[in-house]
Amino acid sequence: MAANEVERKRWNDEQAVLNWPKRERLTDRVTPYVIAALAPQAGEKVLDIGCGGGKLSLAAAERVRPGGKVLGADISEGMVAMAAGRAAEAKAKSVTFVATDAQVDKIKGGPFDAAISQFGVMFFDEPVAAFANIREHLKQGGRLAFACWQPAAANAWFVGAAMAPFITPPPPPAPGKSPTGPFSLGDPTRTRGVLTEAGFVDITRTARTLAVRVAEDTLANAAMLGFLGVPPAKLKAAQAAMDAHFAKFRQATGLPRYELKFQVFTARNP
Ligand SMILES: C[S@@+](CC[C@H](N)C(=O)[O-])C[C@H]1O[C@@H](n2cnc3c(N)ncnc32)[C@H](O)[C@@H]1O
Repeated sequence: MAANEVERKRWNDEQAVLNWPKRERLTDRVTPYVIAALAPQAGEKVLDIGCGGGKLSLAAAERVRPGGKVLGADISEGMVAMAAGRAAEAKAKSVTFVATDAQVDKIKGGPFDAAISQFGVMFFDEPVAAFANIREHLKQGGRLAFACWQPAAANAWFVGAAMAPFITPPPPPAPGKSPTGPFSLGDPTRTRGVLTEAGFVDITRTARTLAVRVAEDTLANAAMLGFLGVPPAKLKAAQAAMDAHFAKFRQATGLPRYELKFQVFTARNP
């Protein structure tokens, strides 16, 4: 089985890419925390892993001016195209994007002073190999900073539990592979272990809670149900379950409120 076959297919899905700008509204406010954890410096070369639509890459590019460069790497051709379009629109010359698998590929443009990621590192089916590969792209002493979710149980806004009755659970990972998904790095002890095994040192972890008020279609909408794995015959029932899920977060006035529980890890290549 090739690396990340399932996630590669999922993230290259046309609907997933088209819907991504809506989904970004949920996590846009996380970006300053990731940037602060990395503290990019003028002149540095930074690699953004799982860059998606490139907003974090663009924010990092602002911080490495003058003279620095940011390379956004993503397994999804569609996300990379979106990111490149945004960079062109912003006339941001110091940021480029590449479609690549950060777990296995050798990414040109290194060695980098730092690697950064906002929710882009939880989809590796061999996380130790992936983080070791990322580390090998860093200079000696190079820094890593990334945000990932705390466990699903802490993130009640996530629609996964409400959708579970309508989705065929994925088969267990093939031998040697690990489960992937938004909460795969939720357990901080395991994540520290993954980073240590991958060769990183000086690991820190900071838990964060952020309340956001965003429209319901940020979390999911009818078009996203297929992406979540709901088959056409179950769409109607799944939509009703989703409405019931959303109802829990509605406020007397204004937009619904969701409490995001994430964690920011930092580490260093020795
Ligand atoms: C939850 S999104 C986060 C995107 C972006 N960083 C943001 O905050 O909006 C996860 C991203 O990781 C990318 N991704 C998943 N597996 C990857 C891999 N093996 N190598 C590179 N990118 C990957 C996906 O294509 C997707 O764009």
